[in-house]
Amino acid sequence: MRNIRQIKNLKGKKVLVRVDFNVPIKNGKVLDDFRIKKTLPTIRFLQQKGAKVILISHLGKDGTESMKPVADCLKKYIKKNITLLDNIRKFSSEIKNDSNFAKELSALGDIYVNDAFSVSHRAHASIVGLPKYLPSYSGFQFEEEIKNLSLAFKKPKHPFLFILGGAKFSTKMPLIKKYLKLADFVFIGGALANNFLKVKGYEIGKSLIDNIKYDFKNDLKNKKIILPEDVVVISGKKLITKKVSEIGKNEIILDIGEKTIENLIKLIKKSKFILWNGPLGKYEDGGGEATKKILKFIFNQKNKNIVLGGGDLVSCISRSTPKAKSYKLKASIFISTGGGATLDFLVNGTLPGIKALK
Ligand code: 3PG
Repeated sequence: MRNIRQIKNLKGKKVLVRVDFNVPIKNGKVLDDFRIKKTLPTIRFLQQKGAKVILISHLGKDGTESMKPVADCLKKYIKKNITLLDNIRKFSSEIKNDSNFAKELSALGDIYVNDAFSVSHRAHASIVGLPKYLPSYSGFQFEEEIKNLSLAFKKPKHPFLFILGGAKFSTKMPLIKKYLKLADFVFIGGALANNFLKVKGYEIGKSLIDNIKYDFKNDLKNKKIILPEDVVVISGKKLITKKVSEIGKNEIILDIGEKTIENLIKLIKKSKFILWNGPLGKYEDGGGEATKKILKFIFNQKNKNIVLGGGDLVSCISRSTPKAKSYKLKASIFISTGGGATLDFLVNGTLPGIKALK
């Protein structure tokens, strides 16, 4: 895959840059500009070399959202002239990957750059169609994502701890299967753990569960899998910590408990490589404490490679570390911008958008 630093002459060239500015918006304002900031090195590099930058992004699922809040946010960081096209999903041909549409788009530029790793699992026109018509390159963020996420399946350092949380068991099952082979410990938290606890015969009350038909018995025999031994439940209106054997029929598991946090910290201490995807609790209902504590602990580790990812975990990072810039990270930490793209890449080792650049 060729990167933008290999482009010989950028002076006066029109460069179409696919970015992923699909960011949370409230009352016309960007709530979290992590993804926007991550593309700034690519944009600045191209501008400094004399290129005219034309940004392409989607926002939301169906193309109805206006890019105005994103444009306002971008103005804070980019002082030179820049073009940001309207929400690309306004055109149904984008999702259909219509080749005529890709060709029309390509007429707007001389060069195509993909710096939108987090949407590169979608075979859309601006991801896989455009590179057919223009000389194409990866941006810096795109390259960084591949380099760091590949650490997980290309000779990771050992002991390797994989922490997996969040929900949607069915989408995460391929990850569990793959990383049970590659990692030394697989810690399961979040709503995913509920599925395992239930199969183990524990009462899980009214906790969130993914009703998939899957036989867990062999996975449960695997000694690498580590499940919570205590959890925080909501009982009536109170949050209480309980052993997993004591959960009541009307209770809902919201987070992992203190003893489990302690166990996880011990595992983190002895691991050299940590891959973490998905929060450990239901933070929107008050189950965010464990994730916050573990993040704080991780940020102070030394001599470890840490890769964090998944949209929900990244928003927990933004919430729990509002002054992220002033955090002096001791560990070498990479925070992925991807949600679905990161999961797909960790499972398959490639994405449609990566193949399209080759
Ligand atoms: C994301 O937020 O994960 C990407 O922007 C992809 O968005 P999509 O799931 O709407 O394709």
